[in-house]
Amino acid sequence: MSKLIIANFKMNKTESETKDYLINFLSKFEDDKADLILAVPFTSISTARYMLSGRNISLSAQNICEDDKIGCTGEISGKMLADSGVRYVIVGHSERRNRFKENSKMINNKIKNALKNRLTAILCVGESLVDKNTMNTLSTLKNQIEEALKGLYENELENIIIAYEPVWAIGSGKTPTEKEIELAVKAIRKVISDDFSQKASEQIKIVYGGSINPKNINKFKDIEELSGVLLGGACLDSNIFMQIINSII
Ligand code: PGA
Repeated sequence: MSKLIIANFKMNKTESETKDYLINFLSKFEDDKADLILAVPFTSISTARYMLSGRNISLSAQNICEDDKIGCTGEISGKMLADSGVRYVIVGHSERRNRFKENSKMINNKIKNALKNRLTAILCVGESLVDKNTMNTLSTLKNQIEEALKGLYENELENIIIAYEPVWAIGSGKTPTEKEIELAVKAIRKVISDDFSQKASEQIKIVYGGSINPKNINKFKDIEELSGVLLGGACLDSNIFMQIINSII
């Protein structure tokens, strides 16, 4: 099975910058080599959709409103996202948990709203440095996953991807050891098997994200338990991004 590669542009690239980026990137990328999901800013979705037509590359949003009720100035509904051509949405990224104070109830609502609109939710979970230093990584992961997936039916997990992103690794240049990632993935699968089923825990896709770059990519690509990777900073330069893709495939 080809590896899943999720590129999180975060709040980078205007619409015209996205266009220039994709012209360069699409001239080099061969669609059948990897399963690629580009999480572009809302303002770039329409241009990216147009440029990706006929290509086997999916689009993701980076956020979704908790519900589709009216009276939410500045928010984007699941219905709008689905209609805009995105198939995925990132939920629970630590930047949103921390800076925008998204709590577990909100994250659970966002996931339910994504599923209601037939979007696949990319659920980000991960421990802070304090959690890590106090040996609370695995309990943090358990708690975040249980709260986020509360009330879901087992068959809905087909439309969930879990991104293990230690908060201390995001944008820091630091990464966990292979052993630490393996333990975290194992813990995530245990929560899914306890709360849903063994089958669901074997089937759910889990990716790693946090400070991946062309120099360290080899460390992640060989971790068998991982379905793929999530890139932030390293996807913003299309040449660096291609370097990473070529190392994975
Ligand atoms: P990074 O970001 O690769 O720049 O560390 C990953 C993320 O925040 O999703």
